[in-house]
Amino acid sequence: MHAPATKVAIHPFSDPGPEQTGAQLMHANPYRPWPARITSITELTATEKLFEFRFIDDRIRAAFHQQPGQFVELSIFGVGEAPISISSSPTKEGFIELCVRRTGRFTERLHQMQCGDIVGIRGPFGRGFPINDMRGHDVLLVAGGLGIAPLRSLINNIHDERSEFGKVTIIYGSKNPSEVMFRHQFEMWKHRKDFDLYLTVDVPDDTWDGEVGLVTKPFEHLEIDADNTFGALCGPPVMYRFVVQEMRKKNISYDRIYMSFERHMKCGVGKCGHCQIGHQYCCIDGPVFNYWEAKNIQESM
Ligand SMILES: Cc1cc2nc3c(=O)[nH]c(=O)nc-3n(C[C@H](O)[C@H](O)[C@H](O)COP(=O)(O)OP(=O)(O)OC[C@H]3O[C@@H](n4cnc5c(N)ncnc54)[C@H](O)[C@@H]3O)c2cc1C
Ligand code: FES
Repeated sequence: MHAPATKVAIHPFSDPGPEQTGAQLMHANPYRPWPARITSITELTATEKLFEFRFIDDRIRAAFHQQPGQFVELSIFGVGEAPISISSSPTKEGFIELCVRRTGRFTERLHQMQCGDIVGIRGPFGRGFPINDMRGHDVLLVAGGLGIAPLRSLINNIHDERSEFGKVTIIYGSKNPSEVMFRHQFEMWKHRKDFDLYLTVDVPDDTWDGEVGLVTKPFEHLEIDADNTFGALCGPPVMYRFVVQEMRKKNISYDRIYMSFERHMKCGVGKCGHCQIGHQYCCIDGPVFNYWEAKNIQESM
């Protein structure tokens, strides 16, 4: 017989005792942001930066494990809190990376922060991409614009465990070359035989030698083993219908097409109702949904 589980009661504002594990601390109060230090900042474009964070408490750092496609609630003390997708792979432990576009008050403040500054992070939250189901299969990943932020976690996870997946095809579309993020990483991968990579821009300039056209354009060249392929997509809402149509033309099953949705969120844990659509809470039932779930959501909107 199993001994009954010990319930650990921790007051939200008390100092964590040394006896609790990181997992116990995080589960005891999902609203509590844990202090994390900015350890690296990379400018990706004029409006996007990649931030690396490390939790200050060793126990939280060791216990934090995400699934590709999950998000955190990031807080800047005295400013506010925002949901942000985790952009780093779960295979890389000890730190997390968030790719953040400067769009308003919160993100503007984050962009002003420096290495060494402290923020609060709680999570990881939500349901991510079904990476375990994808193992042993081909994967077609399609990102548009900032959609590369959550998809990069899945892409890098697949990269780090490459032998566990079949053929991997990545399509990443941006409006113009100056908006292409992680260009250095993708330029290196262009020459790899174990990734089929298509970078495309709507409007090229003199520096661009990749594809030109919408993110659906590379589908013209794709050879897909439909019975063995999972599709994953993330990007602006307008992109979804057209990419799903292309995936369907290639006969990828609806059950195997997964997409990430962004809704306004507050609590991140299914309590406040801000992200509710029909009977679903985007923060706990998503943000990643398969085609059928996403269709039901859109019909309830
Ligand atoms: C699950 C999820 C994952 C996200 N991942 C990323 C990411 O990886 N990188 C990134 O740059 N942004 C991401 N966002 C969007 C990010 O949360 C908003 O850009 C941020 O909250 C804007 O705050 P602001 O004060 O800077 O801008 P505001 O001036 O408040 O708003 C600017 C834009 O952000 C939207 N927004 C504002 N508040 C929220 C909110 N609570 N939830 C969702 N959207 C909001 C607004 O509709 C508006 O379009 C994600 C959102 C969700 C829900
Ligand atoms: S963000 Fe509060 S219920 Fe989803």
